This record gives sequence, structure tokens and C-alpha cells, in this order.
Amino acid sequence: MRLDFTALPPRDVYAWMTSTILPRPIAWVSTISADGKTNLAPFSFFQGVCSNPPTLMFVPVNTRDGAKKDTVRNLEQVPEFVVNLVPFALAEEMNRTAATLPYGESEFDQFGIAAAPSEKVRPPRVAAAPVAFECTLDRFVHIGEGPLAAHVTFGRIHVVHVSDAVLGPDGRVDPAKLDLVGRLGGELFVRTTERFALKRPG
Ligand SMILES: Cc1cc2nc3c(=O)[nH]c(=O)nc-3n(C[C@H](O)[C@H](O)[C@H](O)COP(=O)(O)O)c2cc1C
Repeated sequence: MRLDFTALPPRDVYAWMTSTILPRPIAWVSTISADGKTNLAPFSFFQGVCSNPPTLMFVPVNTRDGAKKDTVRNLEQVPEFVVNLVPFALAEEMNRTAATLPYGESEFDQFGIAAAPSEKVRPPRVAAAPVAFECTLDRFVHIGEGPLAAHVTFGRIHVVHVSDAVLGPDGRVDPAKLDLVGRLGGELFVRTTERFALKRPG
């Protein structure tokens, strides 16, 4: 099989990309508007970028009507955010926050998700998240225009909160305790429960 992405509608390209580029980690992103209304939404176009300076990225795309997502609207007002990581225990809560709520209505309040204050940024973090990266907006890179066009969002990481409950005896994260979920295509997700090790060539 061979697909010509230049000839497919963006929605079909999206379906093919999300069912082949996997598993994808999930950034559960909290933001805040200038008048203090919080927002929480998951994004699986998400990656670390580099450690010097500490940087990550995630990608809110426009809605099918071509509108900016609430996350982007908030970042344009308050250029700060928190990326919370999603363990299996919080998968359903995370999924609920993908609902489209009217702008200004908080997923924290709507779905009863406990928030904890951040240290360096205004948006709160998810209290039960095992890892939370406090970030300031480094830059947007805009790709495309209209429906499904991207606001690639680069963030400078300032503080990271790591729950003691996910640490091993060596003080490092134990992936079994972290038990994160990743996204596959459609409605499918994956857990980091199966692992194997490979020795790096010298
Ligand atoms: C697991 C998961 C991953 C998602 N990844 C993305 C993504 O990478 N980019 C995106 O624009 N929307 C993504 N979505 C959809 C958004 O979460 C959804 O549009 C949400 O309503 C956006 O919220 P906001 O308008 O409050 O910013 C994802 C949804 C789920 C459940």
C-alpha cells in the first residue's frame, strides 16, 4: 500500500499519522487566561526537545472549523503552562478533559480534578500527576493555516515536580512505578508496563 499525502484531505492524513506514529506520550497541559480562568487539555503531539536550555514542545492544532484551541488563546494572553504527565490511574480523567467546553470554563472545575499551585508559573498543576514540568512559552512556530493547522508550542522548562512515589531506591524514576499511558490511533492507548533493555554500542 502507498499513500499520497499531498492528495489526501487533512482529516485522512491525521488518521494515518496518528495510527502510525506511535506510541505517543501525552502532555496534559494546564494554562490560564489573563482574567485567571484555568484550562486543562491533553496533547499527544508532544516531545522533549533538548536539555540546553531545557525545552519541550507540544502541538495544538486548529479545530475543524479553523478556530484556535483554548490552550493557544490562553498562551497568547499568559505565556506560561504546565505539562503534567498521565499515569494509567489518571487516564480517564485525562480523556474527559479533551471535551470541548466553552472558552473560560475550567476542566479542573468541570471534572473535579484537584489542582496544586505551581511555583514559577501562574497556571496550576494537576495535583495527582507524578511529574509536572513548569514552563514559559519560548515560541510558537505556526505551520499551515485554517483547519488542523498547527501552533507548535515550544516551552522553556523551569521547575519539574517528581512524586517521591515513582522513585526507585537509587533516587531515579522507576518506569514501573510511573506507569504512564501513551496514545495509539483512534480510541486506543498503551501503558508502559512491558519493557526491555538494550546495551548501547560503544
Ligand atoms: C489523548 C489525546 C491526545 C490529543 N492530542 C492532541 C494534539 O496533539 N493536538 C491537538 O490539537 N489536540 C489533541 N487532542 C484533542 C484536544 O485535547 C482537544 O481538542 C481539547 O478540547 C483541546 O482543549 P482546549 O480547547 O481546552 O485547548 C488530544 C486528545 C486526546 C484525548
